[in-house]
Amino acid sequence: MLVTVEGIDGSGKSTLLQGLAEKLKDLNPVFTREPGATWIGEQVRRGIKEKINPVAEALLFVADHAAHLDTVIRPALKEGRLVVSDRYTDSRYAYQSETLKGLVKDPKKWLEDIHNGWTISPDLTFLLMLPVEESLERINGKNIEKEHFECRAVLENVQANYLELAEKNPERFIVIDAKKDKKEILDFVSEIIRKKSKIARIN
Ligand code: TYD
Repeated sequence: MLVTVEGIDGSGKSTLLQGLAEKLKDLNPVFTREPGATWIGEQVRRGIKEKINPVAEALLFVADHAAHLDTVIRPALKEGRLVVSDRYTDSRYAYQSETLKGLVKDPKKWLEDIHNGWTISPDLTFLLMLPVEESLERINGKNIEKEHFECRAVLENVQANYLELAEKNPERFIVIDAKKDKKEILDFVSEIIRKKSKIARIN
C-alpha cells in the first residue's frame, strides 16, 4: 500500500513523518521521499538551489520520480510492504503548475501527460493544510536558507492547487487541519493507515 504525505513547506510534514516512523514500527513500513531517494534527487536539490530553468527543474523532479518508482516504490510494493512517501506526484501538480505558468501552454495538462501511463497512484494521501501566513512564520523561524518556492505568492497558489487536487480525488485524499495538536494529528493519521493497511492485506 502506498501512502503519501503532502502540504506546503512548513506545514508539519516532517514532524508527522517522524511520529509515524515510531508509531507504525510494527508494520515495518518503508519511509521514502521526493525529491531525494535517488542520486537524481540530489541533482534536483542542486537545481532548486541554483534556480535553474523551471522546465528543466520540473523535468528533474519527474526524472527523480521515475527512478524513485524503480528503485524504491515498485520493489517495496511488490514485497507487500507499506510505503510512506514524504511528497510524491501531487507535489509536482501543486508546485510545478505554478512554476511553469507562462512557460508551457497548460501546466496542469503538461504535468498530467508527462506522468500518464507509467506512474503509480497513491492509495491514500494526507494533505496537511496550514494557512500560508503560519507556514511562512514557521519557515522564517527556522533560520535556514529559503527555497525559491517559499514565498507568499507562490505558496498561496500551491495551496490552492493542493485543495483542488483533494476536491478532485476525494477517494484517496484526507485533508488534515495542521493547526491541530501534533499528537492528535499523529494518532488520527496512524490509525487510518493501520486500518487501511489491514484491508489491503485482506484483499
Ligand atoms: P523538500 O526538500 O522535500 O522540502 P520539504 O522539507 O519542505 O518537503 O522539497 C524541496 C522543495 O521541492 C519543496 O519546496 C517542494 C518542492 N517540490 C516541487 O516543487 N515539486 C515536486 O515534485 C517535489 C517532490 C517537491
